[in-house]
Amino acid sequence: MQKMLLSEKATSNSSHGQDSSYFLGWQEYEKNPYHDVHNPTGIIQMGLAENQLSFDIIESWIATNVDSTDFHKNGKSMFRELALFQDYHGLPAFKNVLAEFMAEIRGNKLRFEANKIVLTAGSTSANETLMFCLAEPGQAFLVPTPYYPGFDRDLKWRTGVEIVPIHCSSSDGFRLTESALEESYQQAQELKLRVKGVLITNPSNPLGTTMTKKELNYLINFSIAKRIHIVSDEIFSGTVFDSPQYTSIAELVVERKLNQMTDIWNRIHIVYSLSKDLGLPGFRVGLIYSNNEKLLSAATKMSSFGLVSSQTQFFLSKILADKKFTRNYIRTNKKRIRERKEMLVCGLLNVGIKCLDSNAGLFCWADMRHLLGENSFEGEMALWKKIVYEVGLNISPGSSCHCVEPGWFRICFANVSKEALSVSMNRIKAFVEPMGRVANGLSQGEVVCKYWRMRSLSKWVSQLSFSDREADR
Ligand SMILES: Cc1ncc(COP(=O)(O)O)c(C=O)c1O
Repeated sequence: MQKMLLSEKATSNSSHGQDSSYFLGWQEYEKNPYHDVHNPTGIIQMGLAENQLSFDIIESWIATNVDSTDFHKNGKSMFRELALFQDYHGLPAFKNVLAEFMAEIRGNKLRFEANKIVLTAGSTSANETLMFCLAEPGQAFLVPTPYYPGFDRDLKWRTGVEIVPIHCSSSDGFRLTESALEESYQQAQELKLRVKGVLITNPSNPLGTTMTKKELNYLINFSIAKRIHIVSDEIFSGTVFDSPQYTSIAELVVERKLNQMTDIWNRIHIVYSLSKDLGLPGFRVGLIYSNNEKLLSAATKMSSFGLVSSQTQFFLSKILADKKFTRNYIRTNKKRIRERKEMLVCGLLNVGIKCLDSNAGLFCWADMRHLLGENSFEGEMALWKKIVYEVGLNISPGSSCHCVEPGWFRICFANVSKEALSVSMNRIKAFVEPMGRVANGLSQGEVVCKYWRMRSLSKWVSQLSFSDREADR
């Protein structure tokens, strides 16, 4: 009955990805969320790449700049102006500061021009808009795996665009190779799908790594040869907390002077958002940056369906215009992300779980292959269910990110408190130790976390090991 009243799109779940374990884990968490006092045996949410580490810096800016939050500029109320503003080109002052913020994040190695920015309601909307503008339904984008599970919804669902995976392997740290690119292209041809582009996430979600210049060069050469687009989702660009240094695809294009070849420069599009670096996913601020005038014009028209409110633009244009604030924020935020990541890596190493070496992001990509009952995706799902229901941690299985090797899990660390992280490590310890399984090359008890040298961290780890708080599940 329902089906007859609603459209096929509204009633079909195909390609939305809502039934993926990535989203199911969130639902399980919602039913039984951990709280240190009210629900100490609840599920700890470690499947959400949220950045809650630096709210205090933003809050203290707000406390000293009340004018900006109550819509005043130079003592004059902006209320009426903001209430009426609806130009889909966005507030010029906001686009200017966004362009400067993007440059600042990249160490000012690159200039961004405000008139090449299209504002969107988050990167979700930016990625979908790009798909609408670059491909027809039934055409394909190649995407390296493992990838952010939301792409199945964002790139495919409403647009009808197909994703063809570029399979990357743990044998070389999930790097993008020329042969993997070619294979994926061939696969699309066998499926009779016309390839319109490659979409990368740099830094990667879920790997937490930045792409090397070598990888980016493969990609650029490949796109020149095949005459296809590159979409570079750089939503985590401000989280790079360790070497190697971050290189945006745009930097490499300028370095190789390819920006003088309008052909390829017109086919490279950057996606960015304030959801991760500033920790503001609720504000819904994203953007497309492109050199392609036709694309900018089409995307601007489409942005009517997902505008950023003028109130948000006004507030953020004030805060991002404060260069002292942005510099301090970026530096401090990275330091905090790094510390938190080291806590997680160290806590996991302590029980014989290794993570892929990472230098960015709000998560670790943990290798739990040695904990699988059987080496298959069924085995991975069985382990994931135990971790959610028995251990009480919502983490994301690699299969939800289309990883081709069972046994990898994404664990987020920037949305939980230090205390909850400590509880989660105690729970993992209580789960793993009785299994008596440790990863190759590691033996329990002998594991020495290199970060233990840091005093504060070693104190935290020893609290973890000798905590008089029993693992509570
Ligand atoms: C790679 C990637 N792209 C896009 C998004 C969507 O972000 P937004 O909140 O800006 O829509 C996410 C969110 O996790 C992400 O990880």
